[in-house]
Amino acid sequence: SDQSAFDTDVWTLTRFVIETGRQAKGATGELTQLINAILTAIKAISSAVRKAGLAHLQGLAGSVNVTGDDVKKLDVLSNDLVINMLQASYSTCCMVSEENKELIITPKDKRGKYVVCFDPLDGSSNIDCLASIGTIFAIYKRVSEGEPTEKDALQPGNNIVCAGYTLYGSATLVALSTGAGLNFFTLDPAIGEFILTERNVKIKQKGKIYSLNEGYAKYFHPSINEYLKHKKYPEDGSSPYGARYVGSMVSDIHRTIAYGGIFMYPANEKSPNGKLRLLYECNPIAFLIEQAGGLATTGTQRIMDVQPEALHQRVPFVVGSPDDVNEYLSFVKKYQ
Ligand code: AHM
Ligand code: MG
Repeated sequence: SDQSAFDTDVWTLTRFVIETGRQAKGATGELTQLINAILTAIKAISSAVRKAGLAHLQGLAGSVNVTGDDVKKLDVLSNDLVINMLQASYSTCCMVSEENKELIITPKDKRGKYVVCFDPLDGSSNIDCLASIGTIFAIYKRVSEGEPTEKDALQPGNNIVCAGYTLYGSATLVALSTGAGLNFFTLDPAIGEFILTERNVKIKQKGKIYSLNEGYAKYFHPSINEYLKHKKYPEDGSSPYGARYVGSMVSDIHRTIAYGGIFMYPANEKSPNGKLRLLYECNPIAFLIEQAGGLATTGTQRIMDVQPEALHQRVPFVVGSPDDVNEYLSFVKKYQ
């Protein structure tokens, strides 16, 4: 019968988080509360993203909704959702969002011991063409007492307690790690729960795909262009790599974890530190990639070792299968 397809003991993300929390020594449940709050925001963002195409069509008839207000843009709505759900969870003291210039300080009566750095909707240039976009976050324990300050947020990736991303792709998927491996959860819209679909995910030792915006080649350092040439015209008789670039980091990263290969947003003459932000784009992804057995580097330093100096600081970013990243590093070394 139909009913037999139901797993009556299914591992939802909520169950997974409760279980991990229970097993941690001295756990108070605060992290569980925090993660559940983020998941609520993510489900709401997912629903909004799925409606965005439709809203756009309605927009042709006038860009105002029935109440006469301007329709809230998807990135603003996503940011408000994450901030409000997190503050309501009594587990954060401050946050950093790509959308806010300053540190977001939790009202005094709602404070907890965690700091969250997030990009509520990354890849926003892909919204209007309906390509995949994502949410990225990293969670830290605060390091000071009293009023929260930027110091609480300027922690290296090494201190991450939990990180994740959501891909609003052909399905909505959450990749999450609390430091004991990487797991994938897929949203089942019928019950509004994320279901564990892949446990302890590992990246391939070496892939067959390279991914970057090669349109900047004119401005790249020669080491990058030499590496790319080697990928396209291998001298050792091996096959050239395939090229893939969505231009939405979460998509490009998720493919890199799923299929292997290398993703890069290196420095270029126009952007001396690349484009991607250390706190809420590079660090969480570096943590997750390392949990899957991959590498993440600036070209000269492991991403998670970088001591942040500013909330919105950028770093060159190269991540992926260990053999591929190491091969790229060997090209960097030639020029040192
Ligand atoms: P955003 O935070 O403004 O959306 O920019 C970040 C995005 C990443 O998802 C993606 O990797 C990168 O920008 C693409 O940049 P480019 O268009 O320079 O290739
Ligand atoms: Mg972004």
